[in-house]
Amino acid sequence: MEIIKDIARLRERIREVKKKGLSIGFVPTMGYLHEGHLSLMKTAKKENDFMAISIFVNPLQFGAGEDFEEYPRDLARDEMLARSTGCDLIFSPSVKEMYPTGYGTFVEVKKLTEGLCGASRPGHFLGVTTVVTKLFNLLRPDRVYFGQKDAQQAFVLKKMVNDLNMDLEFIVLPTFREDDGLAMSSRNKYLTPEQRKEAAVLYKSLKQARKLAVEGERNVEVIKKVISDIISEAGHAQIEYIEIVDTQNLRSLHMLKGECLIALAVKFGQTRLIDNIILEV
Ligand code: PAF
Repeated sequence: MEIIKDIARLRERIREVKKKGLSIGFVPTMGYLHEGHLSLMKTAKKENDFMAISIFVNPLQFGAGEDFEEYPRDLARDEMLARSTGCDLIFSPSVKEMYPTGYGTFVEVKKLTEGLCGASRPGHFLGVTTVVTKLFNLLRPDRVYFGQKDAQQAFVLKKMVNDLNMDLEFIVLPTFREDDGLAMSSRNKYLTPEQRKEAAVLYKSLKQARKLAVEGERNVEVIKKVISDIISEAGHAQIEYIEIVDTQNLRSLHMLKGECLIALAVKFGQTRLIDNIILEV
């Protein structure tokens, strides 16, 4: 496994891989790898001849006052974990390598980025789509792998790939969860033991929402109220949003219909967690 920090060497390596006719599976990450990342990486390894990841905490997708500085970083630990999955290449550039002085090009997906996390984190998805475009151009993958936990990110990037005719297969894999249902995230590390215990209410509330829908409830306000009541059982939880949207356009629904995304963002102290489920009714 090679760790590459500069773009010139990366291009050289990718050219060699392509010349041999090997398929490339790519998992973009911000590091501090957890089981969720590792499951994406193992699938990418199985489905491709060559598996690469990027580890880059992308400043462009963090707003003012967000956790860019504090975001956990541990390349030595990530390297060991990546090796265990059979990873062939880690691309881990500096901020200067990705955004040299004078950098001025951005990729923006409209509409799908307006609601949910886009409403509370203005500019976030512009940062994600820009860095992911750069990474796709650099790694030239045949298949890319993302987690369902970041549902809006996956919808937005899929739209970008489609709209910009990017020649790759976009694969979204289910959310990886802890035993109590908490979605795996590098940010779980910030939680105090008490907040960590309480954070299990997120998935508990989503499971209850699914149960109500299966039993025939279609009224979105009723389902949102049940979710909110369950989350409010946790003393430290501050709800940022609970939304039920159509997966076609991420617009809010009044009644459940077709494929729906139930998504939420909740803060425990300073730690903002997101989770979601998709329902078909
Ligand atoms: O999901 C993430 O970790 C990041 O948003 C991504 C896709 C690596 C872009 O920085």
